[in-house]
Amino acid sequence: MINFDSKNKIFNLCNENFSYIFCINKLGYLIHLYNGKKIGNIGIERTNEIMVERYATYDGTKEICDESYYFSQMGSRFECSSFLTANTRGSFASITHTDGTKLTNFLYHSHKTIYGKVDPKDLPHTRFNSKEDGETLIVTLKDVKEEIYLDLYYVIFRNLNVLVRFAKLINKTGKDIKINRISSFELNTPNDDYEIISLHGQWADDREIETTKITHSNLVIEDNRGARGFKQNPSVIVKNKNASLDYGECYGISLVYSGDFKIEARLDEYDNLKLFAGINDENFGFVLQNNEEFYTPECIFAYSSNGINDLTHTFHDLARNHIIRKEFAFKERPLLINSWEPFLFDFDTEKIKKLIDDAKELDIDQVVLDDGWFGKRNNDRTSLGDWEVNEEKINLREVIDYAHSKNIKFGLWIEPEMISPESNLMKEHPDFALFDRGVNPTLMRHQLVLDLTRDDVVDYIFDKISKIFDNYEIDYCKWDFNRTLSECGSLSLPKERWDEINYRFMLGTYKLFNRFVERYPNILLESCASGGGRFDFGMLYYSPQIWTSDNTNPYDRVMIQYATNLFYPLSSLGAHVSASPALGMQEKAIISMFGTAGYELDPSKLTENEKEQVKTFNKLIKEWHYVITEGDYYAIKNPFEDNFAQWNVVTKDKKVSLVFSFNYKGVQSKSRFIKVKGLDKDKYYFNSLTNDVYKGEFYMNVGINISAPLKEGMTILVVLKQVNGVVKVVANAKANKNKREKLL
Ligand code: DGJ
Repeated sequence: MINFDSKNKIFNLCNENFSYIFCINKLGYLIHLYNGKKIGNIGIERTNEIMVERYATYDGTKEICDESYYFSQMGSRFECSSFLTANTRGSFASITHTDGTKLTNFLYHSHKTIYGKVDPKDLPHTRFNSKEDGETLIVTLKDVKEEIYLDLYYVIFRNLNVLVRFAKLINKTGKDIKINRISSFELNTPNDDYEIISLHGQWADDREIETTKITHSNLVIEDNRGARGFKQNPSVIVKNKNASLDYGECYGISLVYSGDFKIEARLDEYDNLKLFAGINDENFGFVLQNNEEFYTPECIFAYSSNGINDLTHTFHDLARNHIIRKEFAFKERPLLINSWEPFLFDFDTEKIKKLIDDAKELDIDQVVLDDGWFGKRNNDRTSLGDWEVNEEKINLREVIDYAHSKNIKFGLWIEPEMISPESNLMKEHPDFALFDRGVNPTLMRHQLVLDLTRDDVVDYIFDKISKIFDNYEIDYCKWDFNRTLSECGSLSLPKERWDEINYRFMLGTYKLFNRFVERYPNILLESCASGGGRFDFGMLYYSPQIWTSDNTNPYDRVMIQYATNLFYPLSSLGAHVSASPALGMQEKAIISMFGTAGYELDPSKLTENEKEQVKTFNKLIKEWHYVITEGDYYAIKNPFEDNFAQWNVVTKDKKVSLVFSFNYKGVQSKSRFIKVKGLDKDKYYFNSLTNDVYKGEFYMNVGINISAPLKEGMTILVVLKQVNGVVKVVANAKANKNKREKLL
């Protein structure tokens, strides 16, 4: 998997399908040679040469020039670009040295290979289940001037086309240095008409797909709101402009991090793609004391030579097998009903007990008590931080016992990173709030953020929360985060180090999450940030599911789910049916089926007919949820480019597929076929729409015929089930013509 050709000094990292190759050049720089479809060993000749100029330097007395050697800071393709040298195309890292200078230039020092994986300390990461999963190369570089070492980690997966990269900086100078910028990943590779697919959004419009050509101007995809907002997602796809869902080369890049990030991409003067991914350097600095180490977040680099769907499979498999906690990754998730949209803050013991009764009647597995159960929280102006049950409002023990007596699971909402100015916590510990005391800080949703850069604050808040989770039998926790960071200042850090706050805040957040999952390994966590404002692999490391959006209008939901599905497995998408009047129960239920389903409505307001529909759908959702949890997802039609949203999910053994189609436009009289993907072409499948049986190759090439007057918003679910042979089933189908099996 990792091979070092010591004669030519070439590192060749590969698995069955994917190669990533770089070398150490004569001067000690790491030069990128190749990445992409697996190839054998390559020589250095004509791969690393950039005909820019011969390398010349001045040794203090005379010019030294190697006439036969092409190397240029201006044009060479680096694995770790320097700063303030003749390379002006962006740098991997920039450091203020012990003497105050900033020239940062790392050269090869040593390397080692490890069977298995090394993880970045204190940060969420991809996990190996055994050493067999892959190998890690650690290349240690040394700064040309001082005893500063940079370890570059390359983790190659055996069975997935994934290379994970991160870095560690070590200060051995004997004094303080300051990190001004440090990347997790740098990619320098010849341009191949690349464009980049990114996801941007805002509250209730959580992720939209945007495709941008990579040009010679710097393209920046970032978030700089401290602990993430909706602005942009830390996952992108770089692809040749002709690559499409099922064709062409694509690279996926994703940071396993929920804080400020930046992915920069541009073409240099010689048309090399220069891409950096890592912590956003806009509001970042970190003083590294002697002997201290600094870890960057992991960056996932995934590869496909077969289009976006294949890349998506890699991300979904990576998430389910190597990021999401093992206990939950493939576990079917409870169908839930949440109190927020039906009741907001207006509930009491009786109302929640009634919700439990309704849940039971409707065959729902879990009731979640959302915001409003603690302190004096009858609106959003108060009590964050006062994690004590508001006994006047709700008898928590009684409702939990009641739920459990009916075999209904019980979930509770928290928002641990926050503090309301109007709270006991603020009265007792005003220093716990994270803001610059020299200004009046912005309140968002009337709240401030806790200073999680401090261990004592993390301890305090964990202690408070664990009093609840220790004392009540809670099965699920919705962990919310409803503002971003602004005007930050910590009373425990010297002011000149406040540019460390955002990174340290994330470490504090992760500490809190770590402690929670260690103490309550069986509680199912669903993270949330005003909807899906913190949807990333960092969060998925702790919480197997994430509330996808506060927007539950089915038209918008389809778009948001489609965009989110690009990287994140369907089972991680909290997808609930609400009281949105936009479409009927059937449409909304089908959409929520393609995620972790649930309800955000007051069942007592449903008509008898709607209740019957809910029951029917719940049966269906439960019956097929395993397909969502473990199957391969294929996008068929992209709603950002088409009048339809279409996709299908196929079990790994190809025995069952759930097919989804949603129509955005009014009546369409043209003939329409859903061309399903990923079936076994030679096997026969029964389809629940027309009760016909055809071969996989028919459904994949001709398609399922949905020619009919399609109303706007029409949502179709088809279940394809492998059957043993066409003759018998067709005969049966004919015999039963008048009582065809109907799934819907
Ligand atoms: C924002 C979430 O997205 C909602 O679902 C709900 O939990 C509210 N916060 C509660 O304050």
